[in-house]
Amino acid sequence: MLNGAGHQLYNLEPLAKLDRVTEKHAIRVARLCLMIGRVLGLAESELNKLRTIGLLHDLGKIAYPKEIIAKPWRLTEREYEMIKFHPTIGANMARVAGYDRSIVEAIWSHHERLDGSGYPRALKGRRISLFARIVAVADTYEAMTAERPYRKALPPAAAIKELKQADKYDRKVVQALITALGSPEMVLAIAAAEI
Ligand SMILES: [Fe+2]
Repeated sequence: MLNGAGHQLYNLEPLAKLDRVTEKHAIRVARLCLMIGRVLGLAESELNKLRTIGLLHDLGKIAYPKEIIAKPWRLTEREYEMIKFHPTIGANMARVAGYDRSIVEAIWSHHERLDGSGYPRALKGRRISLFARIVAVADTYEAMTAERPYRKALPPAAAIKELKQADKYDRKVVQALITALGSPEMVLAIAAAEI
C-alpha cells in the first residue's frame, strides 16, 4: 500500500508491471532509492514518495508496444528516439492519477543528467530535483548491474566507478549509494581488482 504519496485518485503501481524484466527492475530501483534516501536521512514521508517514484519511474513505457519494451536486443535509433518520450508520458499519467507533484516531477526527470545531457528537457544541475537525482542513480546502477540478453551485467564495483566518473550524477547521491551498499574501501578495492 502507498503511504504519504499524496492524494492520488488511482493507484498506478499495478500498471508498472509491464513484463517480468521491467517489474523486477522497478522493484530493485525502488529498493535502491530507499537505501539511498535512508543514508541521506530523509523523513519517512519522503521515503514513501521515493518508493513510489522507484516503482513508477518507467510507467510511461506502457504506452509502447511490448515488443519494443521487452525487446531482447538493442533498440534501433528510431525506437530509442520514441522511447525518450516515456518520462513525459509517465509523468502525465501520474499527474492525471493525482500523485504528489514531487513524484510527477521525479518521473518526468529520471533521465535528466546534471551536465544537461539527459532527456526529455535537458535540465541541468539543481533544476533537477533531489528525488530525480536519486532515482537517476538507482536506475542507472540497477540497469548496469542487471544481466540483459544483449549484454553482460557489470559487477557492482565497476558500476559504482562509472557513476563516480561521470559528471552526470549527484556526487552526494552516489556516495550515499556506496555507503548503503557497503564500505567505500571495499567497493573501490573490488573496482581496482576487476578493471
Ligand atoms: Fe526510464
